[in-house]
Amino acid sequence: MREIFRRLSPAAPYFPDQLVSIQSGPDSMIRHVWQTAAVCLVKDTPRPLRILEIGSWAGHSTLTWAEAIGKFERKGSILCVDPWGRYLAAGDVKGGGAYQAMDAATDLDLIYTLFLHNIGFADPAARVDHIRGRFDDVAPYLGDGQFDIVYIDGSHYYADVVHDIAQARRLVRDGGLICGDDLEHQLADVDPDFVKANIAKDYARDPKGRGMHPGVTLAVAEAFGRVADYSGFWIMRREGERFAEVGLHQAQVFIPNHLRDEDKHAVYAWMKQSGLFG
Ligand SMILES: C[S@@+](CC[C@H](N)C(=O)[O-])C[C@H]1O[C@@H](n2cnc3c(N)ncnc32)[C@H](O)[C@@H]1O
Repeated sequence: MREIFRRLSPAAPYFPDQLVSIQSGPDSMIRHVWQTAAVCLVKDTPRPLRILEIGSWAGHSTLTWAEAIGKFERKGSILCVDPWGRYLAAGDVKGGGAYQAMDAATDLDLIYTLFLHNIGFADPAARVDHIRGRFDDVAPYLGDGQFDIVYIDGSHYYADVVHDIAQARRLVRDGGLICGDDLEHQLADVDPDFVKANIAKDYARDPKGRGMHPGVTLAVAEAFGRVADYSGFWIMRREGERFAEVGLHQAQVFIPNHLRDEDKHAVYAWMKQSGLFG
């Protein structure tokens, strides 16, 4: 299978739509820019950077971390933890669409093999390590305070996010960052009863038509209250025993090279129009 991906895309990472290898939607692409901002904030750490990524799928976000480490002229490593197997609830998969396609993408180890193919194109400044398993099985083997950035993008079901955040708090060093994907709305901005009623779903749309990952919304709010939030990419800095919001607007950013051309154009247009970047 690896050979098939190599033949299909010998000189570049490969992100086929059929395997839902890229998170869709404009905000998802913008979040890659915020990932680069996060690396900029820790770039002066006086030793190789260490990033933990919980949930890597086909390696799209992994390649962004790697490129950012290289762009900021650092060395470092990224530890990816993912089971690369079926994880979506039957109720979600029954709905069809992207969930069914994601489930199917784990068959024959397709998505795992695609991840292996893609990380072969990671910036050489970053070593990419991976452990195949659920994060709750892997976390006990990881020591306290060893990561500069812990990025949470695994299962979005409430109990899993609660677990992943609790472990991230332990695993990030003082001054390091915990961040995550898919916080479309913070709890204080939506109806908490709707959120609580839907935590068994990966994604839900409230009566006002606002789409969200209820498990992420609730678990993040319970752990931190309001968080710094950039287009759904949330981020907090560890300051001793507390966590504080992080400003990313002053950080240097870039558009990662492996984004598709149309996504690069869309992100660039958004950056220009937002007025947030020089
Ligand atoms: C939304 S995808 C990650 C997308 C990826 N970060 C990106 O942006 O390209 C969620 C990933 O979490 C993984 N996952 C599911 N349950 C998990 C768990 N308990 N621990 C770690 N990863 C998990 C899935 O296999 C899937 O690869």
